[in-house]
Amino acid sequence: MTMGVRVACAALLSLESLSAATVVASAAADRASPSDTLPDPADDAVPVVLMHGIADSSTSAAMQQLVDSILAAFPAKRVLALPVSNGLASILREMDRQLEELVRIIRADNSLKHGFDAMGFSQGGLLLRAYIERFNSPPVRRFISICSPQAGVGFCPLSPMFQWLCPMWRSGDPYRTGIAFSGYWKDVSSREVYLAENNFLANLNNELPTTNSTYKANMLALERYVLVMALRDKTVVPPASAVHGYWQWEDRLDRSSVQVPLVERPVLPMEETEGYQSDAIGLQTLHVTGRLHRLSFDGMQR
Ligand SMILES: *[C@@H]1O[C@H](CO)[C@@H](O)[C@H](O)[C@H]1NC(C)=O
Repeated sequence: MTMGVRVACAALLSLESLSAATVVASAAADRASPSDTLPDPADDAVPVVLMHGIADSSTSAAMQQLVDSILAAFPAKRVLALPVSNGLASILREMDRQLEELVRIIRADNSLKHGFDAMGFSQGGLLLRAYIERFNSPPVRRFISICSPQAGVGFCPLSPMFQWLCPMWRSGDPYRTGIAFSGYWKDVSSREVYLAENNFLANLNNELPTTNSTYKANMLALERYVLVMALRDKTVVPPASAVHGYWQWEDRLDRSSVQVPLVERPVLPMEETEGYQSDAIGLQTLHVTGRLHRLSFDGMQR
């Protein structure tokens, strides 16, 4: 088994060990391997950076366990959990501010100057994609996104941590609270409001009238884009957002479909989204050239 998938498996296993869910991650790993077509890497020279998710930190036991699991497989590799907006700052600091910090930390590290592989967890996967699209210098070679809200979120996370935050946040304008979550909030009741008010994701996904061709060019420079989805994710809702799927805008649905509660509505798979069809950030090209891989496991994000 080669690098990309092994790294993803390590991540799956660690995610599972954090949650109440069980052993299915190893099954997901087994399912992934037969179709594994990754080239054999001469890999030790390429460092790996890990970007933690919301309410996590580069120094947490979970992140350190991931670092260790990669080192166990690749002892000579440089593996670095990025100390970007640790702890509460990962919730309270806007995505653009966190991104500035991430760029600074990456550029200050001499070992990363020739490029690196990047693995992001949840919000961290979105930050890394923003790094790739807007900076990518030094460049990312392979990008692994684990349970990240790549197409946004439309539902407050069900985890206890958010129970105090969500009501406050939703009582105002969720797009304008100045916390990280607002950056990838995507309320399907109005595309117009989303495009006008979302200050991060709409731009990053090239959904605005003015698009940025650098974003697509940088994504197309990736050697591989691996997306991992937790089928029962309770934090990123809908879970398929992790693989660039999302609910349809409500004005494109008939009345009876709109009456179905949001969490029970089917999502459009990546291939049926506008962003894919217009190849706005290169997803279609990455996919048809065999560089975009989707994996899932029957588990949840804690
Ligand atoms: C497109 O993105 C690049 C990279 O972030 C930036 O330098 C450039 O100014 C952007 N172009 C436009 C038209 O916004």
